Amino acid sequence: MLISFEGIDGSGKSTQAHKLLQTFRDKGYKAHLFREPGSTDLGEKLRDILLHATIDPKTELLLFESARVELMEREIKPKLSAGEIVIMDRFIDSTLAYQGYGRGLDRDLVRKLNLFATSGILPDITFLLDIDPTKAIGRIREKSKFDDPEFLSRVREGFLEIAEEEDRVVVISAEKSEVEVFDSILNLLEERFGFDF
Ligand code: TYD
Repeated sequence: MLISFEGIDGSGKSTQAHKLLQTFRDKGYKAHLFREPGSTDLGEKLRDILLHATIDPKTELLLFESARVELMEREIKPKLSAGEIVIMDRFIDSTLAYQGYGRGLDRDLVRKLNLFATSGILPDITFLLDIDPTKAIGRIREKSKFDDPEFLSRVREGFLEIAEEEDRVVVISAEKSEVEVFDSILNLLEERFGFDF
């Protein structure tokens, strides 16, 4: 099973993803958590460039996809094939929202590159943690060049449009407490996939 967490910077995805990882492990499941960009040797090097260097948006798009290919091939595909649970802290929808809606690159091209990078593999469920950018920015720990309120507003709208188009994407208000958000996530997993947490 492949589960992804999406949302703008400061939406609390990483916290929720870690909590879910722990819950699965406590229940005896083999579960893994990866972050994008990153989680491979090349991916972490690209992450450093992507978060801090000034590069052309097209280069940015291709580097995010390159980091994704490495992670898919080295980690995600083998773990899914072994029947294990993979949790993603950001995945394909981030690229469509940030590079497509945020940077204004051709969205159909971004969709195609996403599918190329994942070999067509999509998450079984995606939790979109939705929050007002002005509230989110105050929560950000690792500041990056993406933390501009106007840019993040476009990204947020992009994520919400993706959620309207894709049944796998569930919108959860990230303005609620950490515990309430986590309860919603567990309830959805129970309802849709029959887990018993
Ligand atoms: P990260 O530290 O993972 O953000 P957060 O802590 O908010 O989860 O930083 C990743 C940054 O890269 C984030 O600002 C979003 C951006 N990003 C893209 O622009 N496109 C992508 O495809 C991905 C995966 C991330």
